[in-house]
Amino acid sequence: MGTEKKLQGKTFIITGASSGMGKATALLFAKEGAELVLSGRNLDRGNKMVSEIEAIGGKAIFIPGDVAEFKYNQALVEAALQYFGKLDGVVFHAGMLGLGAITELEPSLWRKTFAVNVDAVFFLLKFAIPELLKRPSASVVINTSIAAYKSFPNHPAYCSSKAALLAFSKQSAVEYGPSIRVNSICPGPVDTPFIHASASAFPDPAKAVENAGKNTLLQRLGQPEDVANLCLFLVSADSSWITGSAFTIDGGVLAKS
Ligand SMILES: NC(=O)c1ccc[n+]([C@@H]2O[C@H](COP(=O)([O-])OP(=O)(O)OC[C@H]3O[C@@H](n4cnc5c(N)ncnc54)[C@H](O)[C@@H]3O)[C@@H](O)[C@H]2O)c1
Repeated sequence: MGTEKKLQGKTFIITGASSGMGKATALLFAKEGAELVLSGRNLDRGNKMVSEIEAIGGKAIFIPGDVAEFKYNQALVEAALQYFGKLDGVVFHAGMLGLGAITELEPSLWRKTFAVNVDAVFFLLKFAIPELLKRPSASVVINTSIAAYKSFPNHPAYCSSKAALLAFSKQSAVEYGPSIRVNSICPGPVDTPFIHASASAFPDPAKAVENAGKNTLLQRLGQPEDVANLCLFLVSADSSWITGSAFTIDGGVLAKS
């Protein structure tokens, strides 16, 4: 009854799965009975994730690669079909910062940021959608950022790419509803390696991270598990009337801005 797992027997692809929010999402989904195709770049970290998931009785496979490569995205969907016979959802967490002021930023870094943050989501959905359409309650979650709404110093590529994802999420929800639900999430400062990298664009990085937590209404950084809980809600039956929406999860940062 109360112990029923929310994702029993469902198959998900999770990108950025060996670190931060992707890792927390993978562990939570596994606890809820999901079968997982994990995407990341580091084979050792990926294999460790698979062992952790197997240790709690879950099923996962790690496919190493670069999400910006078109064919790699095809391989992720093929792995879902080969190992688990189906695909019920995708959670996109992989992302990069591409830091630099407009006058300093190399066009190649601008393009790479869009390739990883935006092109990769298009590529994977292109392969995933035909499989998701075969499933009764498919759901997609795209991790954007409050940077889609708010500027940060030296983050022009990042903010622009994350804003593009908001539009892409809505477009996908409209094109593939009612069969596939698509929602985006917009985290504020979350305690992962990413926020420390982001803070390097500020004059005093350590202070920037400290202030990022203090300046939320809830006076702390988010934890990866806070975001994993939202992802679970958005792929589970608990959110079955929610699609085409963007969910801010930021401890109140945007409310204060
Ligand atoms: N941490 C924050 O404060 C914050 C706030 C808002 C949004 N986000 C977004 O959350 C997402 C997850 O980041 P996180 O905070 O968990 O940080 P993280 O650094 O722990 O995770 C980022 C993941 O993306 C993967 N990745 C990056 N480039 C890749 C590529 N080319 N191919 C494959 N994988 C690649 C990394 O390997 C890593 O696993 C990102 O999309 C980020 O933009 C983070």
